[in-house]
Amino acid sequence: MHFITSFVLAFCSLALSRADDWGYPDWDSDTVSFPKWGELCDNGQRQSPINIDSKKTLKGFFDPLVFENFDDLQNELQMVNNGHTVQLTGFDDDLVLRGGGLLNDYVVEQIHFHWWSEHTINNIRYPLEMHIVHRNTIYPNTSMATQFKDGIVVIGVLFHASPIRNGAIDKIVGNLDSITSASNINKFVSVGNVMAFEELMPSADNYFTYAGSLTTPNCAEAVTWILMAETVPVTFDQVNMFRQIEHHNGKTLPNNYRALQELNDRAVVFVEGDISGAARLTGSLALTLIVLLASQKFLL
Ligand SMILES: *[C@@H]1O[C@H](CO)[C@@H](O)[C@H](O)[C@H]1NC(C)=O
Ligand SMILES: [Zn+2]
Repeated sequence: MHFITSFVLAFCSLALSRADDWGYPDWDSDTVSFPKWGELCDNGQRQSPINIDSKKTLKGFFDPLVFENFDDLQNELQMVNNGHTVQLTGFDDDLVLRGGGLLNDYVVEQIHFHWWSEHTINNIRYPLEMHIVHRNTIYPNTSMATQFKDGIVVIGVLFHASPIRNGAIDKIVGNLDSITSASNINKFVSVGNVMAFEELMPSADNYFTYAGSLTTPNCAEAVTWILMAETVPVTFDQVNMFRQIEHHNGKTLPNNYRALQELNDRAVVFVEGDISGAARLTGSLALTLIVLLASQKFLL
């Protein structure tokens, strides 16, 4: 997607996010309508999440993604209930992502979860989606990075329902009880189990990528999305543990996914990594042409 973004050197004009007064609708009620979160969230044109219609994707061959330190054992991992999700920080070393279609190195800022999934694939929703939020290292911090189209990469990992417990998720939710209550919002606790993030990752050979936004206010349109095509298992027991999180006293957060957004004039590229070098070279050349043509047609 950087082919497009680097040709459209637009600067997102950003409104500072409002006070932390936004939330998710109760999808179980009869009169559900998604709340207006303001600014770009309501009037943006390249918002996330989206439904990915696999029949309408463009095929791409990129260099492999490279994950640095994702195999490190994390000893100091912290988690917090921020009133909207369960978020992980406190990584032992910088977790760095490069390669693929990325022009720079991206470092992980935080990892969090959405229950049910935000993205759907062919209109199928998944029980859980993990977001690994990375900042482009050419920018000094996340708030700066969200002002540029190449500022943020989010890796999305979808979890499918399974009778088999996910061992890495168990390590994370093992200590969740201590942060579920609303009185513990924004209180950091130790995850208490040693794990490496690769335990949570599917194969990165095949993925969908498109230019989108943060899925929470201020919905900055700064995100290159990388949604893994392979999914990993989770049980409903495990997802239900996340659903006990309170966002207000006595009010649990049964789901925290944003409504699907319009694709508008964006291309979604399906990257297949599992091919020979020669085919990849031809493929990436063809993709560059296709995306350049698409960007002229749609964006310029
Ligand atoms: C981010 O970096 C910019 C530029 O160095 C600085 O002005 C700003 O205060 C920083 N913001 C935060 C939240 O650290
Ligand atoms: Zn997210």
